[in-house]
Amino acid sequence: MTDVKNELNNEAEIKQRLHELALAKKTAAAKSSRVQIKAMAEVHELSTDELDSLKILHAGMQNRQVLNAFRELRVKLLQKSKGENFICLVSSLCERGGGGSYVATNLAAAFALDKTKTSVLVDCDLYAPSIDTMLNIDASHGITDYLDDDELDVQDIIYASGVPRMRVVPIGSNRERGAEHFSSERMSEFIAAMKARYSDRFIVIDAPPILNSAETRILADLCDMAVLVLPYGKTTMEQVQAGVDVVDKSKLAGIVFNN
Ligand SMILES: Nc1ncnc2c1ncn2[C@@H]1O[C@H](COP(=O)(O)OP(=O)(O)OP(=O)(O)O)[C@@H](O)[C@H]1O
Ligand SMILES: [Mg+2]
Repeated sequence: MTDVKNELNNEAEIKQRLHELALAKKTAAAKSSRVQIKAMAEVHELSTDELDSLKILHAGMQNRQVLNAFRELRVKLLQKSKGENFICLVSSLCERGGGGSYVATNLAAAFALDKTKTSVLVDCDLYAPSIDTMLNIDASHGITDYLDDDELDVQDIIYASGVPRMRVVPIGSNRERGAEHFSSERMSEFIAAMKARYSDRFIVIDAPPILNSAETRILADLCDMAVLVLPYGKTTMEQVQAGVDVVDKSKLAGIVFNN
């Protein structure tokens, strides 16, 4: 009787072991295919026409005013950080569609224009993510997956953007938990890891509009600096004041007038 029981236990153990092995194999295969996808994406560099249609700045663009504005913003932020790398939150001061993602993307692109620097644009807008539309790959993992899955490494959620030296972290597929995502210890770890790994890496967070967004309040606390985007003619003074009040005064790096 005992032997039969042992045998049964063994059989159960073997089954369990086989299951674990199959799972490990599956994870390894998924990981290696992700690495391959990322390696392929690295090859496709966006053409100047593609950049123009995506409204992403580039050194040879016709509209020098836009290019210079973002270069100036880059200089100002670097002055504020005394040349150190940083994490900068970008958020707009109106309800929706104020240009927050436009400014965040172009700020990241402006850092990447400098050949001695790299940038990472992190999509933290759970409700209106923007990076996915820019990526021409199926980004299976993003920040929300990373925050819930300890098995995922920072490297697993960073994708090539098609802009040299600029990387992106998409929002991912696991968006139900809302603001709770960003208040986790793992989010603080992510922020610290992103900044610490390369001293020439500048991180831009594309956050939801600052008014009435619990996520943006949490993210503003985690970032080193914040840039607020003021869409011309779409915001009242009260809204501007309310938005400015959310950000710690020492972190507010500037307000960009978006026309
Ligand atoms: N300065 C600009 N020049 C050209 N297009 C712009 C400019 N600012 C914003 N846009 C365009 O306006 C639209 C809305 O801008 P964007 O998505 O950046 O706003 P947002 O604040 O991120 O909106 P959401 O609240 O949905 O996240 C986009 O199509 C964007 O490309
Ligand atoms: Mg946006």
